[in-house]
Amino acid sequence: MPKVTFMPAGHAFEVAAGTTILVSAVQNGLQLRHDCTEAICGTDRVKILIGKKHLSEKTDNEELTLEMMNGGPDDRLACVARVLGDVTVELPE
Ligand code: FES
Repeated sequence: MPKVTFMPAGHAFEVAAGTTILVSAVQNGLQLRHDCTEAICGTDRVKILIGKKHLSEKTDNEELTLEMMNGGPDDRLACVARVLGDVTVELPE
């Protein structure tokens, strides 16, 4: 199973392939603010430190929302980015 590591704390969890980053965090007791869960509000933006190729492709909504937020190439929206392999994710403070 893919491993998701959340920084800065360094907590690591194995999750079923296809689980979103948001669900990976919340189901393991980590806080990650989220409102819409549809890649529209942008509240759950995270930075991918390692393994961005191991995530699902961005959805159209995600592309658009990140563009409007001036997101960088390593930014993803946790509610729609699905974990397909090992990744390391930086959570917002
Ligand atoms: S919860 Fe709104 S963009 Fe992810």
